[in-house]
Amino acid sequence: MYPLFKTWAEIDLAAIRFNLAGIRRLIGPEVRILVSVKADAYGHGVVPVSRTALEAGAGWLGVSHVKEALELRSFFPETPILILSSGMRGHSEHIVRNNLTPVVCSLEIARDLAQTALYAGKKAAIHFMLDTGMGRIGVWHENCLPLLEKISRVKGIRLEGLASHFAAADDPDPAFSGLQLERFLKVSRALADRGIEVPLSHIANSGALISLPASRLDMVRPGIMLYGVYPAEHLRGAVELKPALSLKTRVAYLKTVEPGRTISYGRTHRVKKKTRIATLPIGYGDGFSRAHSNRGEVLIRGRRAPIVGIVTMDQVMVDVGGIAGVEVGDEAVLIGSQGEERITAEEAAARIGTISYEVLSQLGKRVSRVYR
Ligand SMILES: Cc1ncc(COP(=O)(O)O)c(C=O)c1O
Repeated sequence: MYPLFKTWAEIDLAAIRFNLAGIRRLIGPEVRILVSVKADAYGHGVVPVSRTALEAGAGWLGVSHVKEALELRSFFPETPILILSSGMRGHSEHIVRNNLTPVVCSLEIARDLAQTALYAGKKAAIHFMLDTGMGRIGVWHENCLPLLEKISRVKGIRLEGLASHFAAADDPDPAFSGLQLERFLKVSRALADRGIEVPLSHIANSGALISLPASRLDMVRPGIMLYGVYPAEHLRGAVELKPALSLKTRVAYLKTVEPGRTISYGRTHRVKKKTRIATLPIGYGDGFSRAHSNRGEVLIRGRRAPIVGIVTMDQVMVDVGGIAGVEVGDEAVLIGSQGEERITAEEAAARIGTISYEVLSQLGKRVSRVYR
C-alpha cells in the first residue's frame, strides 16, 4: 500500500542544519544571520525550515510579503521577522500589531507606520532600503540622505536597519558588487557623521557572503545556500553544502509502445523502436515545468530515463525501455539521488534555461512535503 500522495518532496532538515553551520563557520560568531524563507522557504516548507534554522543559530527570518510574515508570526511569536519587499498603505496595522519589521523606502509609508505605532503606544522598527545598483525597490544611494534624515526624525519610527541588495553577487567578476558595497558604506558613514545611529546594516545574500567577506557587515541574508544549492558554480569550493530537497514520485502506469506511436499532447515524440513507457503522476500543476518536455530526465532503478513528449498538468511520460525490470510503484527521482546517480536542482534548472531558485520555489501545494 502506498500513502495517498503520489508525488512528494523529501526535505532533509539535517542538511538545513549542516548548511547553516557552514554559513556560521564562514562568517564567524558575531554576524547575525537572517534566513530568507520567502516563497515557502524556496519550496521547502516555511515552518519546519524556519524552526530548524532558528534552532541552529539563525536570529532573523526574512520573507517577502506581509501575509508570509503573519503566518510566521503565529508560529514564532518572539522572532524578528523582516519583510523584504516594499510595504504598502494598509499594511501598517498588521505590521505594528504583530511586531513585524518592514523595509521602508518612502516617507509616506514611514509616516503611515508611525501613525499606527503611536496610536498603539509603540515605535515601529523599520529597515531603510537603499538601492546601490539592484534597480528594484529602494531609494537610489545618491539621493537617499535627506529622506533618511527625515525618516530618522519621524516620531513613532525606530530606524533599526539599513539594507541594500546585490544585483550580481553570483558574477565571478566582483567589481560591481564591490561598487555597490562602497556606495552602501558611504551612506552608512554619512549617517554616522550626522549622528544617526543605525544598529543593523545588511546587504549580503548567499553569493556575497561567500565571495565578498567585507559585505557581511552586521547581518547576512542567505537563502539559496541554506537549501544546499550553490549560488554560482565558481563558489562551489568555498563551503560544503548539502542539498536539502529531493523531488520524488512513483511509476503509476507502464505500457509497451510499438514504433510509430506518439506520446502526449501535440504528438511531439514518436517512438522509434519498441519500448516501455512509464507514466509518472507529476506535471506542471505540481510546479514541474512544462519546459522539461522532451528534455528532462528522471532516475528510476538508479538509471536515467528521458522524459518523452509534452509534460502535462498532472502526468509525464518517461522512456524506460533501456532499464530492466521497471515496475509500477517504482520510485522515480526528479531531483535528488538514487543509487550512484544524482540530478541536482541546478541540473534541472540548466536544462530548461532557468535557475535553481525557480525550480525549487515553484513546487506546488500538491507536492507533499515529507521531513526527515
Ligand atoms: C532582499 C533579499 N535578500 C536576500 C535574499 C537571499 O538571496 P539568496 O537566495 O541568493 O541567498 C533575497 C533573495 O532573492 C532577497 O531578495
